[in-house]
Amino acid sequence: MDAAREKKVVDAVPTGLFIGGKWRAGATGATFNVEDPSTGEAICTVADGTPADATAALDAACAAQAEWAATAPRDRGEILRRTFQLMNDRADDLALLMTLEMGKPLAEARGEVTYGAEFLRWFSEEAVRIDGRWSTNPSGAGRLLTMKQPVGPCLLITPWNFPIAMGTRKIGPAVAAGCTMVVKPAQQTPLSMLMLAEIMTEAGLPAGVLNVVTTTKASDVTGPLFDDARLRKVSFTGSTPIGKKLMEQASKHLLRVSMELGGNAPYLVFADADLDAAVDQAVIAKMRNIGESCVAANRFHVHESVADEFAERLAQKLGSMKVGRGTEPGVEVGPLIDATQRAKVAELVEDAVGKGAKVLTGGEQVGDRGYFYAPTVLSGISDDATLLREEIFGPVAPVKTFAGEEEAITAANDSEFGLVAYVFTSDVKRSLRVVEALEVGMVGLNRGLVSNPAAEFGGVKESGFGREGGREGIDEYLSTKYVAVDL
Ligand code: SIN
Repeated sequence: MDAAREKKVVDAVPTGLFIGGKWRAGATGATFNVEDPSTGEAICTVADGTPADATAALDAACAAQAEWAATAPRDRGEILRRTFQLMNDRADDLALLMTLEMGKPLAEARGEVTYGAEFLRWFSEEAVRIDGRWSTNPSGAGRLLTMKQPVGPCLLITPWNFPIAMGTRKIGPAVAAGCTMVVKPAQQTPLSMLMLAEIMTEAGLPAGVLNVVTTTKASDVTGPLFDDARLRKVSFTGSTPIGKKLMEQASKHLLRVSMELGGNAPYLVFADADLDAAVDQAVIAKMRNIGESCVAANRFHVHESVADEFAERLAQKLGSMKVGRGTEPGVEVGPLIDATQRAKVAELVEDAVGKGAKVLTGGEQVGDRGYFYAPTVLSGISDDATLLREEIFGPVAPVKTFAGEEEAITAANDSEFGLVAYVFTSDVKRSLRVVEALEVGMVGLNRGLVSNPAAEFGGVKESGFGREGGREGIDEYLSTKYVAVDL
């Protein structure tokens, strides 16, 4: 990849805070480095926001709220639609930027730009479909009027693994609903969000509707916002422990809350499954985003009659994937986000191997530069292996056997998480029985990918609540007001 082009794309990013429609330095003037995880080297610096900056961003969001809520839904939708178009026009640059700050291979980054932009197209269409209800009181006396109104200023906290799509999945419905917002992107990947703010401004988003505060001190900076009664909602995508802390903070002013938290997705392969499809889709379910996704298949439960063949075929596929810097041609597996994440993945593999697992492929870090870890398949997993209980967030596939349907369902549900499960079977009755019995918010039935802007994304149990995308996504940003009407 051309270093001059990389520099040009990075240099085009505004690196200040975006508050009230203006780019500015943080209150202290401090900055922090954004690293390329494939080298560990800094690619640029961005403003390190402070609590005072976050409050200024909320001031701007509050100042813009009433006027923004009163804009025509069609106008809000058109801004989203223009942003969708501009993102697609600039997809190559956005994808390169994302690869540089996050590490995912360029083709996947390009896919995320499309995925992220689609949330804006979807919600541009939803903006004009916010409706209410008019009904007759059951007694016949009087009428009931129900209307939907924007929740108010929101705090949107986005993760590093999908730096654009997890932003547009929140910003799209907030804009469509008529809410203003403060966005705090992840420290590791602020550049894509800063670029998105620039593009949305170009698409006509009024000053103050979207404010972006980058920072290294996430909880210090968001703390004052939770103490401020003007904030009405928080939407968070990230780990369950942080989600729980935010819930506590959100209780102070009883904020509306959407939480998209950790997962521990079981991938069930029954003896009657199409094994070719099960193996091919397993590559997607495991390796999309280098395994750094809350919907990544975390544990493979495979019927004992096909488990060896499944594991060997999966190992062959993962073992032949090209690992390297995401900008290089043909690379399918980029680096993990940082040294901490790679150490955690290595520790989970060591723990499983120490408890008897066999390494069919991988099982080690790759190279001395950057944070690469080899695609790994493990078999013979013992019941007490930690990776059965914890989210791996890396390219590691543990394969465990089961003997019967009940055992498979029990194993799948044996987790405090409940985001997604994958089920492979050719038996229609079994598929419906198993889907009903799974304690999750989403199921991939003979498919290794569920993510889709037109579908409701979200979990149950400790994977959180609220839905992003689909018909329900905009509801998270709307309040219901009922009026008792005396005729
Ligand atoms: C996530 O990992 O947070 C979600 C990824 C997706 O939308 O597919």
